[in-house]
This record gives sequence, structure tokens and C-alpha cells, in this order.
Amino acid sequence: MSTLRRILVTSALPYANGSIHLGHLVEYIQTDIWSRFQKMRGHECYYVCADDAHGTPIMLRARAEGIEPEELIARVWTEHTEDFAGFAVGFDNYHSTHSDENRVCATTIYERNRDAGHIVRRTISQAYDPEAQMFLPDRFIKGSCPKCGAEDQYGDSCEVCGATYAPTDLKNPVSVVSGATPIERDSEHLFFKLGDFEKALRDWHKAGHVQVEVANKLNEWFEAGLNDWDISRDAPYFGFEIPDAEGKYFYVWLDAPIGYMASFRNFCDRTGVDFDSFWDADAQTELYHFIGKDIIYFHALFWPAMLHGAGYRKPSGVYAHGFLTVDGAKMSKSRGTFIRARTYLRHLNPEYLRYYFAAKLSSRVDDIDLNLEDFAARVNADLIGKVVNIASRCAGFIGKRFDNRLSDGLDQPELFDTFVKAGDEIAALYEKREFGRAVREIMALADLANQYIDEKAPWVVAKQEGQDARLHAICSMGINLFRVLIGYLKPILPIMAGQAEEFLRIEPMTWGSQREPLLDHTISKFKPLMTRVDRDRIDAMIEDSKEDLVAEAKTTAGGPLAKDPIADTIDFADFAKVDLRVVRIVSAEHVEGADKLLRLTLDLGGETRTVFAGIKAAYDPADLAGRLSVMVANLAPRKMKFGVSEGMLLAAGPGGKDIFLLAPDSGAEPGMRVK
Ligand code: 2FM
Ligand code: ZN
Repeated sequence: MSTLRRILVTSALPYANGSIHLGHLVEYIQTDIWSRFQKMRGHECYYVCADDAHGTPIMLRARAEGIEPEELIARVWTEHTEDFAGFAVGFDNYHSTHSDENRVCATTIYERNRDAGHIVRRTISQAYDPEAQMFLPDRFIKGSCPKCGAEDQYGDSCEVCGATYAPTDLKNPVSVVSGATPIERDSEHLFFKLGDFEKALRDWHKAGHVQVEVANKLNEWFEAGLNDWDISRDAPYFGFEIPDAEGKYFYVWLDAPIGYMASFRNFCDRTGVDFDSFWDADAQTELYHFIGKDIIYFHALFWPAMLHGAGYRKPSGVYAHGFLTVDGAKMSKSRGTFIRARTYLRHLNPEYLRYYFAAKLSSRVDDIDLNLEDFAARVNADLIGKVVNIASRCAGFIGKRFDNRLSDGLDQPELFDTFVKAGDEIAALYEKREFGRAVREIMALADLANQYIDEKAPWVVAKQEGQDARLHAICSMGINLFRVLIGYLKPILPIMAGQAEEFLRIEPMTWGSQREPLLDHTISKFKPLMTRVDRDRIDAMIEDSKEDLVAEAKTTAGGPLAKDPIADTIDFADFAKVDLRVVRIVSAEHVEGADKLLRLTLDLGGETRTVFAGIKAAYDPADLAGRLSVMVANLAPRKMKFGVSEGMLLAAGPGGKDIFLLAPDSGAEPGMRVK
């Protein structure tokens, strides 16, 4: 093995106000596979991450829930860590940017840059909400697009015509926080002089620390010129107050990447690992950041510049991946393809997804598609049909006929050697993050192993007199080939590999530990290591995701807090087609097996409809009879898991238990059209 390396690896920090979904998991699974691989190679490798806990959206989300931001981020931290554990993402540390370590690291980086002259102060004019008494980030202002006139567009860009503009250009702007018309107000801000680092950044990019596609993008940015970066925000803001600027806070994106460092500091304090040798300017260790393609600017420009300006090392590599589509389209809440980590885990084995993503991942920035048909077919064909099959075809005979003991020699040592030798190429592919190609190599070996078993037909030999030694050698050979394959798959399938280690009664496998065959060794009774992907479970997961949406639509107030960047939008013409009617709830019942839904019978002014609504958390069905609400009356009937829903009930509220329906004495009558 080559010399031992010391490696620190990170994934981007998820925001502390949303759930982990399958789109996020592409990155965590990619990073986890790479870090597990490095550890198996015997390198000293640490994988750290944290929640990205600061910023206006988190502050406002907490406010909407009537809690302190600290309470919100603590709750989300627990959810996130559970979700990651569910997918066997093996962080060495998972911290928060709202931590003492991050405050110290952010202050140090800021002060060193300031003292070196890289921070300037300037007064700028910005949109201010006079009612909520706060400056408004671009995404918190809506109005009509200055270019095409489309209504309800955000302050930075139009989703209809694609125009980008300043929030001051919007026509009829309103604050999403209070509904007030924003005014212009001056305030002093602190800026990081990114342009000071142009040469250092260009040299760093040229040295090959980023992918080719990313380098091309960076060149465009260099050509456009590097602008000063606004790193401060005015109170009220959830973040760290800037030490020498009272009432000003570090912008969330300033302290977010510093969270990598802070999480590692927290880890070092716990374990005694030497922090400085990973961050000093002359560090001989390696530092890699895995990120999505949307945050390249922050990681390939601001972050290395901030590190450089503060006298720290720069990353050895910044690796961007593409976005996830499901069945060829953007994840969609209404189609049920916006799938949360925990919804997936309720229905399917996490290693199916780890394997499928690995099979699709490369070192490039390309988007990857989760095609649900292909997902089931591929996992079943490869993992069940090829890999697990090898063990299940051989283990029975070893158990029944040889008391679970493997033979003391191999039937075909040259085939075993082929498997061992292939390990170098597979390792090289893992190292280069070419996981899809690594998987193809491993499956080609699995095909060879199955061919071997087909040719040797142990089930025929087993019936022949006096052929025990041959049967023993064939099946032991099969088990040994299986063991090498599982070793190669271990970075991708750590849970199944753990079960295989128990079955084989071996120590945890490292990359080199399969070079020698397992001979004259007792194994355990074989238990199936993985079951087939069942299409019904996939369908149930999709239905469940739709159910999440129904519940969420009922429990989330409007505004950016409800807006997910991946959610779909409709244009006005589509909206105008919606027939909204007042309804009276005639009766409400629990639905057997549904966590969130109630079955409602609704009176639409003479007509009766059955509708499923995700408001179980908010109401006892017994209290609902007689209450008024609004429904979408012309929604095509939808077949749901529990029956057909003939429309959709609308209600609003801050979440959880409070959902507002109209009071019975509101003057509304069933059947009234809502305008
Ligand atoms: O885009 C995001 O989801 C950010 N929360 C990523 C932060 S990565 C790092 F800089 F902290
Ligand atoms: Zn427009």
C-alpha cells in the first residue's frame, strides 16, 4: 500500500430549517462512500459536517412557530442526525454553526482578514420593511417582474421570463414578512475584498484543485471581475454579532463554511487529534469539500480567499456534483417525488439507494436521475440476483454437508487471483470518485463468480457419490469470491458488509484483508442479506410523500417559509382554473393506517364529496362536524392509498396542531364561490 495519508472530508452543511430529502442524500452518500473507502485503505480520514443554523429564514421560521431559533435548530439537528444515521452516513462529527467553536473560528478569520486590510466598510441603501422593522433579503420581497410583468416574483429574479434584477426594480413590491411596501434605507455594511485574492485564486485553480467544468465556470467569473462581498447583516438577525460592529451580524454564508473548521475543532477537542496540522498554511494533510453545483462560487472563490487571507491552508479539492431528478424531472411535491429521507426509510432499505446512487455517480458535475423502474430492476438484478445469490447458492451446502467449515484449499486459485488483482483498478476508480465505473467492475466480477458456479453446478455434484471434496472446494471457492466482492462493495454497502462479516465470522474488512483466501475456517449459518425491492413499497413511498405534501400544505403559512426552492410554480392562467368553494364538514373519521389523514364528508351546497385531508394532527374528528372551510372543487378525483379523494380541502395555520378553518358563524354558505 502507498504511504498513509491524513485526510479531512466535508459535505455541505444543510440548513437547519428543512428536512433532509433524497436530493441532499446524493451528496452525503457520495462523500460517505469516498470517506469509508479512504478509511478502508488504512488512511487517517475524518468526515465532518454540521447544520447551517444561521440566517433570516431560520429566524423567521422560529418566529412563525413561536419558538426561539435555538429551539428550532436543536430540534432539526436531532432530525438531521437521525436521518443521516438511517442512511448509514458515517460522520466522525456532526456539529452546528451556532456553536462556540464556530464563533471563535469565524472571529479569527474575520479579524485576521480585517487586520490584513481585506475588509472595508461602506454605506449602502437596501430594502427595509418599516412594519417588521428589518432589512429584507431579496427573497423576502415580491412584486411584478420589471421585464415581463409577471406577478408574484421574488426580488432577485423572475421565474417566468428568467430576468435577473435588483429588488428596487420590482413593480409594486411587498414585503413577504409583513405585506408592507418596502422603503429604501441606508446602512453601513462590511465587505470582504475578494479582488485582493485574484492571483492567489487563479494559481490555486490552475494547480488542479477543482474539476475541469468548474475551472471553466471560474474563468467566466474572473473575466466578469471579482466584486467586494457583503459579509454583514443588520439586526434583527440570527447569527454572530461582528466583534467590532455593534448591531451587525456575520452573513450566514460567511460562517457556514467556517462551520467545517469548527466541527473539526469540536472533534479534535473530543479526541485529541491535532487540529493545526489540518489547517496551518503549510499543512501536509489533505482537505476536500464535496458540494452541489449551486454553491461553487462560495467554495471555490470566497472560502479559499478567506482562508488564504487568514493565513490558513486552502482546500486540496472542491468537488461539485449535479442535482437529482426523479423519473427524469425535477423533484415534485405534487407527483410525490419530493421524497424525504424519513419517508424513504419508512418503506425501503437505505442501501438500495446507496447502491443506486453509487452506480450513477461519476467525478463530473452531471445531474443524476433516480428512475424508479430502473432503481428496482437494477438493485434486484445486481445485489440480489448477482451478489447475494453467490453466497446463497454455496452457503447451504457448506452448512448442511460440511458443518459450516470452509475447505482448506481453493478449487480455482487463478480465478481468486483475478478477483484480488481487480482490486487495484477498483480502488483507483473509487479514489477518482468514479463510483459508477467501480460498480461496473465489481458487477463484472460478480458475473464471473456466477458463471463459475453455473459451470461447476454444485447442486449436481451434491447428488454424486464420492464427490464431497469437490463439492466442498467449489462452494468454499464461491464463498471466497463473495467475500472479495463484499469487501469491494463495503464503502457503498456498509450495513450489508457488516452482516456479511458476521456470516463469515471475520474481522471488519479493510481493503487489503481479502488478498488471502479464507480457508479451513468456520462460518455462520447463512441468512438472506437483502430482500428484493418490491414495486409496491416504492408506490407506497410515493403516496406517503403526497400525504406529506397534503399535510404540509395545510400546516404551512404562505411566504418564503413555505417556499421550497424545488417546489413547482403555476402561472396565473392555471390558477384561474381553480374552482374554490365554501364547504361544510358533515363528518370526519380516522383512516386506518394513515398517520396524518382524516376522511371528510363535505357538503358543497347540495352535493356531497369525500375528501382526504392531512389535518389529523390539528383536530379531533369529533370536533370538525359543522365547521366551514374552502375546497378545490374541480380537482380531478385522485386515487390515494386509502380511497378516492374528490377534491382538496384548504386551510392555513402555523403548523402542527393549529390549522385555521372558518368559524361556523362566518357568514359563509356551502357552495359559495371563493374569489
Ligand atoms: O446551500 C446550502 O444548503 C448551504 N446551507 C450550504 C452551506 S455549505 C458550507 F458552506 F457550509
Ligand atoms: Zn419576468
